Amino acid sequence: MSFLTLGIETSCDETAVAVVAEGTKTLSNIILSQAEHAIFGGVVPEIASRKHVSAVGPIYKRALSEANVSLADIDLIAATKGPGLIGCLLVGLNFARGLSLASGKAFAAVNHLEGHIAANFLAYPELDPHHLTLLISGGHTLLVETKGFGNYVVLGQTRDDAVGEAFDKVAKLVGLGYPGGAKIDALSKEGNPQAIKFPRPMAHSGDFDFSFSGLKTAVALYWKSITEEQRKASLADIVASFQEAAVDILARKTVAAAERLQVRSVTLSGGVAANSRLRELLGEKLEQRGINFFYPSLNLCTDNAAMIAAAGHFQYHRIGSSALSEDSDPSLRLGC
Ligand code: KG4
Ligand code: ZN
Repeated sequence: MSFLTLGIETSCDETAVAVVAEGTKTLSNIILSQAEHAIFGGVVPEIASRKHVSAVGPIYKRALSEANVSLADIDLIAATKGPGLIGCLLVGLNFARGLSLASGKAFAAVNHLEGHIAANFLAYPELDPHHLTLLISGGHTLLVETKGFGNYVVLGQTRDDAVGEAFDKVAKLVGLGYPGGAKIDALSKEGNPQAIKFPRPMAHSGDFDFSFSGLKTAVALYWKSITEEQRKASLADIVASFQEAAVDILARKTVAAAERLQVRSVTLSGGVAANSRLRELLGEKLEQRGINFFYPSLNLCTDNAAMIAAAGHFQYHRIGSSALSEDSDPSLRLGC
């Protein structure tokens, strides 16, 4: 019998439940993305937590039925402990603790960032345990040396906005709506990425930290300086030029870190890992250097519960169960 983990993820605006076998085989991966936030231009924490409360039960039932298992078959219940929105985290974590208490099944409180890294182990079970990960999402931008599951060195991170936040804010500014990363990605295919030379803050700083607020401000100033007609005519060029600058910074730093560490494999994780131009540009640069490049499928890049189940599986087999008293931590860091 394989070891089955139930994963629960409610750290932001996705209610997700999954069943994963042996930490590497996804039996079900149900994700409800809350559409309620779009009209507000960003996630409203109170609405998000209320929606998690009503959705988590039905989604849990669906995840079990799609995996064709019952709670009795589950060996471990894993839920996101942090980082994330406190009210949202509490819903999934308490649901998992309740299930664990009622069923006597083991419980694992999982770091969401470790979940994003585990998405690559889930997608590529043969992945070199020692690799470099570029973890890029709406809340985080980190370059991490993964020495093995649970063993990380954070090489650098953003000093201000996360790269996904910059994508979302630029999308909102130019009227593409929220969340805007995927919309910028799609529209950029119709634009000229060299049309406007936006700055690349810290691209040559020599360290592995990032900064995206200056780039975001440069786009906002450019937008203010042109007429309504020019905005309409050059929208695709503007977003393509912004995306090119953001992706250029990410690719340069990642390649420099891979060369410094002399790793053989680089992985992407987090929602921005879905970006097609980043995959293309970084892929070319790494291929030229003979470095392997991996990125999970789209549904494993953005927030999901299969990655939490995988991380919970590896964590449990490394350090055992978490205490049922373990609480959520909205600002949990990697390596803590
Ligand atoms: O990992 P994720 O689902 O949630 C967080 O933990 O933040 O990432 C969501 C972020 C959003 O900022 C969204 O705009 C961005 O990922 N995103 C993208 C793309 N798809 C999603 N950014 C750029 N290009 C994309 N194709
Ligand atoms: Zn995430």
